[in-house]
Amino acid sequence: MIIYSEKVMEHFMCPQNVHSMPDADAEGSYGDPACGDYLTFYLKVKDSRIEKISYLVFGCCASIATSSMTSVLAKGKTLEEALNITEEDIVRALDGLPEKKLHCSNLGVSALRNSINNYLIKNRMENFYENSNSSR
Ligand code: FES
Repeated sequence: MIIYSEKVMEHFMCPQNVHSMPDADAEGSYGDPACGDYLTFYLKVKDSRIEKISYLVFGCCASIATSSMTSVLAKGKTLEEALNITEEDIVRALDGLPEKKLHCSNLGVSALRNSINNYLIKNRMENFYENSNSSR
C-alpha cells in the first residue's frame, strides 16, 4: 500500500490553480511515456515574472499533487527562478513522496520548464519581428 504525506493528500484533494487559461502568454506540456500521465502548464508573464499559472493534468494522485505544488512554488517567481525549481524542491515542499512515486515530480518540473522555454522562444520571435519591421 502506498502511503502519502498529509501535504500530498491536501494537494490531491484540493489542487491549487487547476484550470485552463485561454489568454495564456505561453503553455507547455510533458507526458510520462512510462505511465501515460500528462500535464500542461499555462503562464501569464509580466516583467519576466510569472504573474499567473494554471494547469490541466491527467494522472495519478502524486502527479496531481506535484502539479499543484509546482504551480504554488512557481507563482510570483521570475522566469529564471522558476527554471531553477527542481524535483527535490517539489518533493520537499510536499513533505516527501513514496519511493515508487518520486518520478512523478519530474512531470511538474518538465512541463514547467517547457512552458517557460516556449514563452522565451515566442517572445524572442515577437521581438525579432518587431525589430525587423521597425528597421524597414
Ligand atoms: S505514475 Fe505517472 S506521473 Fe505518477
